[in-house]
Amino acid sequence: MSSLETAKKIAARKAVDNHVSNGNIVGVGSGSTIVYAVERLSERVKQENLDVVCVPTSFQARQLILSNKLKLSDLDTHPEIDVTIDGADEVDSNLNLIKGGGGCLLQEKIVASCSKSMVVIADYTKNSQCLGEQYKKGIPIEVSPLGYVPIKNKIEKKYGGSVSLRMAVKKAGPVITDNGNFILDWVDYKSTFDWPNVNLDIIQIPGVVETGLFIGIASKAYFGMSDGSVKEQI
Ligand code: A5P
Repeated sequence: MSSLETAKKIAARKAVDNHVSNGNIVGVGSGSTIVYAVERLSERVKQENLDVVCVPTSFQARQLILSNKLKLSDLDTHPEIDVTIDGADEVDSNLNLIKGGGGCLLQEKIVASCSKSMVVIADYTKNSQCLGEQYKKGIPIEVSPLGYVPIKNKIEKKYGGSVSLRMAVKKAGPVITDNGNFILDWVDYKSTFDWPNVNLDIIQIPGVVETGLFIGIASKAYFGMSDGSVKEQI
């Protein structure tokens, strides 16, 4: 296993061990790091006979829960979640996040917002001082397909940088999210932006469904480091 994969795995396992207990309703994030968390959760359910119910943040998370034979639920049945564990594309020194590299930001943010705590699991490359310092693929913004051009223009005009429609790799055309929307990726923005205000401003543009800026949502982050240790950030 590469050092990056080992870093993801040790962060994921530590978060599950420290934050999940019997009777919990657990929000299950999306991406590659969460795979290790779900594996660990499944191990603990079997070894400790834990009664845990899982609420997914994406189609991928739903499949992971099912393939690991964990109890699957939803926000209709369990609108109050004890802890959500999820990956991130970048984490700044204030625990603000960029998420949505995998296009699942809307459901991820809804589930996190219903959780008593959100715990981030990531490898050492995601650990930054300022958003944009490490992660260069941009801030994802989920939008209604109808409005993607005017939304792109408004963001570029007001804040600068460059906003592009995320295109699918194995299909001609744009990425369609689990919710039937498009994703815009905003790059070359100023890392010194006042993110709480910029985020609120962008969300108010008609047609913007949600941003991948998770501001003041996460309560703790676990970073797997290259030396095999796990760094904790609160
Ligand atoms: C999914 O849309 C994202 O928000 C992921 O949670 C994020 O990209 C982290 O993914 P990795 O665990 O694959 O880095």
